[in-house]
Amino acid sequence: MSKSFPEQLLNLFRPTVRAEKPYLVPGARPVSVKLNQNESPFDLPPAMKRELLEAFFQIDFNRYPSEQPIRLIQAIESHCGVEAGSVLVGNGSNELTYTLGMCLITNGTPVITPSPMFSLYASMVRLHGGIPVRVNCTDTYQVDVDAIIAAIQEHEPKLTILTTPSNPTGLAIPKKDVERIVKASSGFVVVDEAYHEFNPEGSALDLQMKYPNVIILRTLSKAFGLAGLRLGYLIARPEVVAEMMKSRLPFMVDRLAEQVGLLLLRHEELVSDRVEQIKVYTAALHQALSSMDEIEVLPTDTNFVLFRAGVDADALLRKLTERDVLVRNMGGYDELQGFLRVTSGTPSENKAFLDALTSAVG
Ligand SMILES: Cc1ncc(COP(=O)(O)O)c(C=O)c1O
Repeated sequence: MSKSFPEQLLNLFRPTVRAEKPYLVPGARPVSVKLNQNESPFDLPPAMKRELLEAFFQIDFNRYPSEQPIRLIQAIESHCGVEAGSVLVGNGSNELTYTLGMCLITNGTPVITPSPMFSLYASMVRLHGGIPVRVNCTDTYQVDVDAIIAAIQEHEPKLTILTTPSNPTGLAIPKKDVERIVKASSGFVVVDEAYHEFNPEGSALDLQMKYPNVIILRTLSKAFGLAGLRLGYLIARPEVVAEMMKSRLPFMVDRLAEQVGLLLLRHEELVSDRVEQIKVYTAALHQALSSMDEIEVLPTDTNFVLFRAGVDADALLRKLTERDVLVRNMGGYDELQGFLRVTSGTPSENKAFLDALTSAVG
């Protein structure tokens, strides 16, 4: 094999791809206490896994699934109480964001997002040739709603993207403010509700009846505990879904993932019980962190907590990792220098984290 790879071949790639960096979870490694990706601490109960194995036996692995996972779509429509034709299901909600890009972004399209914002969005916008217009947060890390509205008036964007509660900050946008933003926009407003089950403000879904420009994005990776299966969904008015459907690749959701999604939707009480437990664990974790003198903590409306220890975040992350606990350094976000993010695990995982933190900063 030749040592030097011809640069002109790589230059055939779209410049937007050439300029990008791959999405990698920093510091990922096997540890006993994994609190770095806002996952659920709960796997499926073994009895449900066995039920699934039985169901998997009935599946013809040699046959394609249907183009779109229609049974799962219908189950989600009934779970959300929305009319038929309002839901698209994808291979995780991240995958659906690419459909938004494909449908709405052309060269030079401005896309407004608050900053800080889940980093995948800016990359998705750039890859499709769009221009992310970042609107700085307030000094308490809240979304600056007036500034977002001013940016909408200035740029008249086809697309504005919010996440509430926000990853990375953990803070919800008050529902009335989501409505103000939606009302001010003649383009679409995507509300990413990856953490909506934890949101004290409730979902923005009901705004969709009044405002046809609202698109809701959700995932089964967090409260449903299915990050490993890759299921996410989008809710929009049927006319919007029908248009988006034209750009969807077929067969994005495999038969196994569809079965698992259907099973969990038949056990909604399991999910809601677990959500209640996670809320209690997160509140206790937040309380414990707040009681530590050297730690600054942000409020949280999600299943994770942002904190700063007044020491170098990389060094602290290393010390925690040496103690077998993995959290996330948020220094990649300009506004969050020095902050770390810890996902709430089980009480014993949270205790292991707090013990490790106490010894690391002590
Ligand atoms: C705001 C937000 N949206 C989307 C996702 C990803 O969802 P999915 O696993 O369905 O791709 C995450 C994951 O961390 C997230 O924080």
